Amino acid sequence: MGSDINIPNFKIKSIEAIKLIPKEERIKAIERAGLNIFLLKSDEIFIDLLTDSGTNAMSQEQWAAIMRADEGYAGARSFDNFKNAITEVTGFPCVLPVHQGRAAENVLDHVLIKEGNVVPGNIHFDTTEAHIEHRKAIPVNCVIEEAYDSAAELPFKGNMDLKKLEKTLEENKGNIAYVLHTITCNSGGGQPVSMQNIKEVSELCKKYKVLFFFDAARFAENAFFIKQREKGYENKSIQDIVHEMFSYSDGCTMSAKKDALVNIGGFIGFRRKELYEKCVPFGILFEGFPTYGGLSGRDLEAIAVGINEGIQEEYLRYRVKQVEYLGKELEKAGIPVMKPIGGHAVFVDGKKFLPHIPQEQFPSHTLTAELYAESGIRAVEIGTLLAGRDPKTEKNKMPKLDLMRLTIPRRVYLREHMDYVVESMKKIKERKGSIKGLKFSFESPILRHFQSRFERVE
Ligand code: F0G
Repeated sequence: MGSDINIPNFKIKSIEAIKLIPKEERIKAIERAGLNIFLLKSDEIFIDLLTDSGTNAMSQEQWAAIMRADEGYAGARSFDNFKNAITEVTGFPCVLPVHQGRAAENVLDHVLIKEGNVVPGNIHFDTTEAHIEHRKAIPVNCVIEEAYDSAAELPFKGNMDLKKLEKTLEENKGNIAYVLHTITCNSGGGQPVSMQNIKEVSELCKKYKVLFFFDAARFAENAFFIKQREKGYENKSIQDIVHEMFSYSDGCTMSAKKDALVNIGGFIGFRRKELYEKCVPFGILFEGFPTYGGLSGRDLEAIAVGINEGIQEEYLRYRVKQVEYLGKELEKAGIPVMKPIGGHAVFVDGKKFLPHIPQEQFPSHTLTAELYAESGIRAVEIGTLLAGRDPKTEKNKMPKLDLMRLTIPRRVYLREHMDYVVESMKKIKERKGSIKGLKFSFESPILRHFQSRFERVE
C-alpha cells in the first residue's frame, strides 16, 4: 500500500453505539456474575473482546446477498451459491452445511470415531476435545514443545511435532480415528502452521493410512502468515496458498463464524463423496436437510460472500496488523504477551503477569474479572479454567499455558479502541500485587468456564 500506516480496506456505513457504564456499576455487575465474564450482559460491556467468533461486521455485499436469499427447505438456490463459493475457495468438491463449528465436529465424529479411538492434533480446541471425549475417544495434542513457551519467537508455533505425531500413530495403529490440524492454533495462541508442516503431516497420515482433516476456522489468517513468513510463498496469492493447504487433506471442519466473516454458520468439506455420503444422515439427524444444515438461506448467502472477502489480502493485512499493533503496544507497556503475536487475538500470560496467584487459583481468569471492573473490557481465559478436569482422575488439568485472550472481532473496532485496552492494562499493572486469586463457589460439570461462579481467595 506504500504506507506504514495500517489502513483498513473498508469504510464504515453503519454503526452500533457502545457505552461505558460507571465503575461502581461494573463492580456490581461482575460480582452479580459470580466473577465470570460469560455471565455479564452485553449491555454492561464497553469493548467486547470475548471472542472473534460470530462477532464480525458484515459488508454491504453480504447484506445485499441476504436480501436475495432463497429460503426453500430443499434444493435452495442459496445452497448452490454457498456450496459453489466454498468449493471454489477450498477446493473441496463436497460440502455439508452445519449451524456452527462444533456441529461439524459432532457430525464428523459420529461417523469417524469409535469408542477408545485416538485423535491426534496440534492442540485441539475445547469444543473439539469435548466432542472427541463425548464419543469416548482420546484427544492427543502433538504440537511442538516451543508452543508451550509464551516467550519463544517462532514463525510457525502451531506446527505439529512430527516425532510426537509418528509415535502416537505407531503406538495406536488401527485405532486412530483421524488426525486433525487446527489452523491457526487457537488454544496455542492463534499461532499459524507452515505449509511444510502441513505437507509432512499429510505424508505421515498417508504412511499410516489415516484420514487427515483440518479444523479450518481461521484458515485465511493461516494462509496470510504463510505468505508473510514462509519461503517460496511471498509472491503467491492467498487463494493459491489456501488451495495448496487444503489439497494435502481429506477435508475440514469449519466454523464460518471466524474467517468466513459471518455471525453464524459452518460446514464440513470433503475430498471424497463416499465419506460425505456417510455423514449426510447424521447431518440430517442433528442439523437438517443437507441443503441448509441448521442455517437459513440468508446465512448461506452471507457465508458465500464472506468466505471470498475473508481471503482478500488487503483485508487480511489490515486484520493481522491490527492485532499485532495491540500486542506490540502491550509489550511496550511491559505486559507479558504470547510471542509472536497471533492471528486473531493477543494472549496475555496470566501466570507471568500475576506470579503471586497459583495456577489452581486461575490467574488469567482472575485477570479477566479485574480488567472488566477496571475498564468495561471483556476478555476471556484460555487456560486452567477452560482446560477442565481429567475425565479419569477428575483432577484439574494443569495446562502449561494459562492465558488471557484479548480477541479482536473482524472489521469492528478501531485503533483507538486498542489504545484504550493498553491504557486499561497499564492501570492494572500498577496495582497488580494486590489482586487476589479465585476459587469456585459453583463448578459446572461440562465446559465449565461458561457457567461456573467464583469467589476471591482471602
Ligand atoms: N475450532 C476452533 C479452532 C475454534 O476456535 C472454535 C470456536 C471451534 C472449533 C468451534 O466453533 O464456536 O462455531 O462451534 N472458537 C470460539 C472462540 C468459540 O471463541 O475461540 P463454533
